[in-house]
Amino acid sequence: GGKSIAAAKPATSPLIHPVIEPLAYLLGKWTGEGEGDFPTINSFRYGEELTFTHSGKPAIAYTQKTWKLNSGEPMHAESGYWRPKPDGSIEVVISHINGLVEVQKGTYDANDKVINLKSSLVGNASKVNAITRDFKMINGNLTYVVQMSTNHTPNIQQHLKAVLSKL
Ligand code: HEM
Repeated sequence: GGKSIAAAKPATSPLIHPVIEPLAYLLGKWTGEGEGDFPTINSFRYGEELTFTHSGKPAIAYTQKTWKLNSGEPMHAESGYWRPKPDGSIEVVISHINGLVEVQKGTYDANDKVINLKSSLVGNASKVNAITRDFKMINGNLTYVVQMSTNHTPNIQQHLKAVLSKL
């Protein structure tokens, strides 16, 4: 047998940190369908699951995965941390399965349940220059639009939109 290493377990039901309380409506698992498009590609539809969890720290952990609707074959995936501040600003860091990384900065409105993000950094990308992500709760569903600009398409254009419901 291996040498035993004493390690306490993480808390199973941590208290929600007051800083993330305004975004507590996100916590949990969301699933739904989205639609992808861009001037340079054929449009497509996808299935998606988002999870938002917390540990008691002032950040929300985020994971996303997507798949082809007909076959279930995996498509894009990403994960990161959402870091709201008490002044209504928010910073989100995301790493993508294809190696792209982004830092998003923006604002949240806890009453309207709206979050607007704009990239302040896109790194390790072959052609993406900027990304915006806009989230809005509509009739209890989490909806978003992702737009991007690339070397070939310098004006920001919609790439993704989706509607998700809480599991
Ligand atoms: C194409 C970026 C999310 C599926 C592209 C292209 C870029 C890109 C730069 C090529 C466009 C061109 O050549 O002009 C991104 C970024 C994302 C994202 C930055 C997240 C912020 C997703 C997601 C999916 C997806 C979530 C699937 C659910 C596709 C597909 C294409 C594409 C199918 C066209 C075929 C291909 O190039 O593979 N994306 N994408 N993308 N993206 Fe995304």
